Amino acid sequence: MTLREEIERRRTFAIISHPDAGKTTLTEKLLLFGGAIHVAGAVKSNKIKRGATSDFMEIERQRGISVATSVMGFEYEGVKINILDTPGHEDFAEDTYRTLTAVDSVIIVIDGAKGVETQTRKLMNVCRMRNTPVIVFINKLDRPCKDPFDLLDEVEKELQIRVRPLAFPISSGQTFKGVYNLYEHNINLFTSDQRQTADASTVEIDDIASTQLDELVGGKFAAQLRNDVELVEGVYEPFDREEYLKGHLAPIFFGSAINNFGVRELLECFIRIAPSPRPSTTQTRTVMPDEPKLTGFIFKIHANMDPNHRDRIAFLKICSGVFERNRNYLHVGSGKMLKFSAPTAFMAEKKSVIDTAYPGDIVGLHDSGNFKIGDTFTEGEKLKFTGIPSFSPELFRYIENADPMKFKQLAKGIDQLMDEGVAQLFVSSLNGRKIIGTVGALQFEVIEYRLEHEYGAKCRWEPISIHKACWIESDNAAQLADFKMRKHANMATDKHGRDVFLADTSYSLALAQEKFPDIRFHFTSEF
Ligand code: G4P
Repeated sequence: MTLREEIERRRTFAIISHPDAGKTTLTEKLLLFGGAIHVAGAVKSNKIKRGATSDFMEIERQRGISVATSVMGFEYEGVKINILDTPGHEDFAEDTYRTLTAVDSVIIVIDGAKGVETQTRKLMNVCRMRNTPVIVFINKLDRPCKDPFDLLDEVEKELQIRVRPLAFPISSGQTFKGVYNLYEHNINLFTSDQRQTADASTVEIDDIASTQLDELVGGKFAAQLRNDVELVEGVYEPFDREEYLKGHLAPIFFGSAINNFGVRELLECFIRIAPSPRPSTTQTRTVMPDEPKLTGFIFKIHANMDPNHRDRIAFLKICSGVFERNRNYLHVGSGKMLKFSAPTAFMAEKKSVIDTAYPGDIVGLHDSGNFKIGDTFTEGEKLKFTGIPSFSPELFRYIENADPMKFKQLAKGIDQLMDEGVAQLFVSSLNGRKIIGTVGALQFEVIEYRLEHEYGAKCRWEPISIHKACWIESDNAAQLADFKMRKHANMATDKHGRDVFLADTSYSLALAQEKFPDIRFHFTSEF
């Protein structure tokens, strides 16, 4: 197969949802269809159950599971599908944001009874920043759900994207009859079957005006469907794939993942419309996937579960060319040529050494602590991929050394955990103290635990009152200098030495923005 053909048959995507909407269940059903797993229950939910926030065994277990399910690759009808897993717990949202930088499209799962929830909204903001194409799967139709039109309106309004249903449900809950495919003009009749190979019974309907429909779903629901379809065709424009690919229009499906219902339709449509690997932007140029030379970047680093072996797995997303085992590549960050004798690929739960990988694929590289999130690999060109930002953290604490004999271990531990992207480090300009910023409270516990168990260091947390960290810059040097002098007590530097303003309240931030109009305040590290 040519490089072009390999690229065209790849679909690299993530399934995202608010916890409990059914992401794990849907992932599992997709893997079952792909033949990548054979029994239900093989994909373990990687969410940390509520109330288990102090249970470190749970965190460790989670890390074990998430490395196993980080990337799930499988073949379906000649298409190579790579599903990138994202952590379920919202405290690990930043991990999810970064994973979204490595995908070409996403499927959003929404609970039909709950509608759009907070986490979905936040994740959609990241997709919107990158114009990632999204398909929406409205799940749990076997339960009483909100009215489908209300759900469509909610998605459109809350996720700020135009929608186009490709299928439409016939009732929900106890009276759920099935889903009408608006393009193929057939009805998928609902059968509650949790078995993996359940092939729902599909009936072709040439004309929904015919009495055949009444016989299938009953007069009342047939009449309702006719009204609904008329309304859909009247209100929504026909599906336009170009608009979907630009991230402007989301096709909508309805189903019930646990019952394996509507999943095949979703998958069939997905492989037809979802994009193959897209061009990637760097600081200097756009990289096309079919360029012959290899380029790729690291979007995730996973520490070893075994504290005696502090090696890590770095996840490399291939952006162009062909990756080959035992070939020398330039690690742009260090300027060193490196080769990998055992790069791994992930097929469902299995990890195996590979010889080659193509754009869209994810390769696991062994790392003894030298790689950082965002690192680029090439065949010699000095490129830096953009679009892998750090997000402004929301929780802050001073980190102090609690064991004076272990100063070095602590410094190294903090350094490596920050490279892994567990949290962000800022150094106060006022007193030189180290401040850790995170998106969730759980990270502080994870850091403390891992520093002790993996680096033999002890830390202590001290409170600091910060509302938000933002990166600042300005073309007006005088105003910037004036700002930094006045706000000296609230200034810090990030790990690249850039200026960060630590606003103590939303009010002081708003005031600063008003008083210093020439200063730009950024809430992601990339601007
Ligand atoms: P998540 O990864 O998005 O957090 O969700 P997950 O798939 O773990 O699903 C959350 C819960 O919703 C699970 O139940 C799952 O069985 C259920 N679920 C998923 N799809 C459907 C569906 O189509 N219909 C119905 N009725 N339920 C669905 P749980 O009780 O929390 O977990 P479990 O003990 O069953 O695994």
